[in-house]
Amino acid sequence: MVVGDFATEVDVLVVGGGPGGYVAAIRAAQLGKKVTLVDKGDLGGVCLNRGCIPSKALIHAADEAKKIQNSSHMGIEVDGVQIDFTKMIQWKDGVVKKLTGGVASLLKNNKVEVIQGEVYFSGTNTVKVATESNSTTYQFEDCIIATGSRPMEIPALPFDGEKIISSTEALSLKEIPKKLVVVGGGYIGLELGTAYSKLGSDVTILEGTDSLLPGVDASMVRMVKRNLKKLGVNVITKAMVQAADPSGTEVKVTAEVKGKEEIYTADKVLVAVGRTPNTDELGLDQAGIEVDEKGFIPVDKQMKTKTEHIYAIGDVAGQPMLAHKASYEGKIAAEAIAGQPSEVDYQAMPYVIFSDPELAYTGLTEQAAKEEGYDPVVSRFSFAANGRALSLDAADGFLQVVADKESKEILGVQIVGPEASSLIAQAVMAIETGINAEDIALTIHAHPSLPETLMEAAEGVMGNAIHMVNK
Ligand code: NAI
Repeated sequence: MVVGDFATEVDVLVVGGGPGGYVAAIRAAQLGKKVTLVDKGDLGGVCLNRGCIPSKALIHAADEAKKIQNSSHMGIEVDGVQIDFTKMIQWKDGVVKKLTGGVASLLKNNKVEVIQGEVYFSGTNTVKVATESNSTTYQFEDCIIATGSRPMEIPALPFDGEKIISSTEALSLKEIPKKLVVVGGGYIGLELGTAYSKLGSDVTILEGTDSLLPGVDASMVRMVKRNLKKLGVNVITKAMVQAADPSGTEVKVTAEVKGKEEIYTADKVLVAVGRTPNTDELGLDQAGIEVDEKGFIPVDKQMKTKTEHIYAIGDVAGQPMLAHKASYEGKIAAEAIAGQPSEVDYQAMPYVIFSDPELAYTGLTEQAAKEEGYDPVVSRFSFAANGRALSLDAADGFLQVVADKESKEILGVQIVGPEASSLIAQAVMAIETGINAEDIALTIHAHPSLPETLMEAAEGVMGNAIHMVNK
């Protein structure tokens, strides 16, 4: 800091107002700290403004539109469903607005000062905050970096915001693309590709590896693939996209498919090949912080960086890039700053993909359990045998429990089926609290309900399931 340059002093400076940053700021304020949160964009970060929330709103709207067209077997005849896409996007924007407004008021009520500006480290205890009108130096005791991530670009397919787009633009299109090529069959590609197919786009997904959702249990992904086929989505695996030419009326995408060059055309190309952490424009070296080869900030179990009073949470602190992981880490960092012995424990991390049907998993798969030296038992209950799933007309899929044969400890749960995103919560709670299969089996579950599938699978672990044949 230059002599004569007065600094504003704060206890905790939080950089970034997404689900990592705003949660950390609130928890630090609850613990008696004077907190300032700085974000160069809108409160709520990617998740609320350009990620989780708008995508789930669009996915839900697309689901509703498709369902109503496919309900004649239930006696619902619909004559021509009209989609007013402008109105759909407006409704989605309204959902986002309600939530971001809520975050602003929570921060205010917790007496967190919020500044819209860009942060640049100028030392190990100072930052410059550039707003539209001025630049101010802040001196902090502790700092939490929660600047999130941005869509990764393929150098040969630079985003132009019009024809070659990222998830950001895909969530605010003016009209439904007639032909959409999705590059990358990961979380984003699959979720948005499915939604646009349900809205009427002709969708092709090009995935570089030999399967959609690499790393996710193959038996779960199979169900999703089957539904994509029914929808008419063209899924091409082992398709490494090389280049795109947006100069014509349509974009021409060149990919190497199983060793051969293929060309695909579309009016929009959505590139969803991962995200890159926002750590390159913060002046981290001034704060004594180095990043790894992928740009992530190394941290310890309290989210402390190499510069001990500076913490990093969420996407900047490494995979998995999930909003709930960021919030969890934000609370740990704030508690550590307040002198509490909190540390992260990721054993019961939920993973949810809003595909059709939904996928959700937590803990260990059978294979991973074996690799960790367990003797696992696997019990799978099909949604086709669950009354609630059948009455919802959503009986595709299964819930599977992986437990330790001897102790009946729940090691992992994998779900593909209706409301998997909600059902996983009970499994996460079981792992987190150490409840075993017997405890779940002894718990009275409401009938008819989807969570009965967890009870039945747990009974299967015990060898006494009622609604399936025990192994
Ligand atoms: P991702 O890492 O999930 O998937 C990217 C896919 O692109 C991979 O399957 C990869 O093999 C493929 N790929 C890479 N280069 C390619 C090329 N040149 N040609 C063809 N395929 C190529 O990344 P995605 O979908 O962009 O999502 C980013 C992050 O956002 C994820 O890490 C995820 O955690 C998070 N996210 C979470 C959601 C949720 O929790 N429901 C929803 C959406 C995103």
